[in-house]
Amino acid sequence: MAPTQPAITVKILSESPNLKSIPSNYVNSAMYPSDSPASDPIDSNSIPTVDFSLLNSTDPHQRSEAINSLNKACQDWGFFMVVNHGIPENLMKEVIDGTQGFFNMREEEKKEFEGKHVLDPIRCGTSFNASKEKAFFWRDYLKVFVHPKFHSPSKPQGYSDTMSEYSEKTREVAKGLLAGISEGLGLEECFLDKALDMKSGFQIFIANYYPRCPQPELALGMPPHSDHGLLTLIIQNQVGGLQVQHQGKWIHVNALPNSLLVNTGDHLEIFSNGKYKSNVHRVVVNNTRPRISVAVAHGPSLEAIVSPACPLVQSESNPPAYIPMKYKDYMELQQSNQLHQKSILEQVKILRN
Ligand code: OGA
Ligand code: NI
Repeated sequence: MAPTQPAITVKILSESPNLKSIPSNYVNSAMYPSDSPASDPIDSNSIPTVDFSLLNSTDPHQRSEAINSLNKACQDWGFFMVVNHGIPENLMKEVIDGTQGFFNMREEEKKEFEGKHVLDPIRCGTSFNASKEKAFFWRDYLKVFVHPKFHSPSKPQGYSDTMSEYSEKTREVAKGLLAGISEGLGLEECFLDKALDMKSGFQIFIANYYPRCPQPELALGMPPHSDHGLLTLIIQNQVGGLQVQHQGKWIHVNALPNSLLVNTGDHLEIFSNGKYKSNVHRVVVNNTRPRISVAVAHGPSLEAIVSPACPLVQSESNPPAYIPMKYKDYMELQQSNQLHQKSILEQVKILRN
């Protein structure tokens, strides 16, 4: 039987008059019970914060403290908030407004950007991979490849310029964070950059739209998953919904104003030989306000063959725990399957007893 594709976006579905319940093919609560309750506010406040300006401090003591806290956040959480990152507040606002403008366009206009293949540089759609899913997610998306070659949709007006400026700025922040991470792993500051050919690093701009949902407890914006790549930098329209897994619990993220929310990805786990586990996160939806988020994912060059960093696996006590794989192949595999936990990473893990 041919898989059922949703005929419309969830934005349109959510705007149907008198929608009191969600169609049964959007019910995810059986597959993903909301298990551990979203935790109390104390937990949420313990999410690590990294002050980006201190990573570049001329005071060596301050700098090494910042590097330590960054690396501790990668090791303990795989998730942190970045403050003092230097990205102007008005640019972040333009990104969110432009994204709202994109999703507000008529369906026929958006159709123009409906890519067919996961390697199409501009691709908008709904859910994650509707052809593989038993139940759809309450999410519409736009994914655009912005580096090493910049692409962008031609509409709405001004969005392309905003996307270009923001992509450049987030790339700088990711670069600074990755230099600190490289050093924190005991490598040269530029080791990671060189090993993974970050000059040709692959960067995707992912805009997500999660409409109001009449039965939020039955639906899910995105299932528990980890991201491919090294670091994903997220901003949102002040509406929460992102939850990160920490010590077996779901922690609801209360973002600090103007902060960047950062996830560590599967390729940082591979590169660090398992020291920095990629973070598992999900998105819940709500009945009051639509949520917009923009996640910019930063990965190695698509042609890079990613394996644990050589200097980290030279001792017998720490043999390589992941098989080498071309980033492009990994990315394609992740994007063309169901998004589920760390299912693709499991395939490159070397099992030892
Ligand atoms: C993603 C993602 C989180 C969010 O796009 O991979 O996890 O907050 N997004 O929308
Ligand atoms: Ni994600």
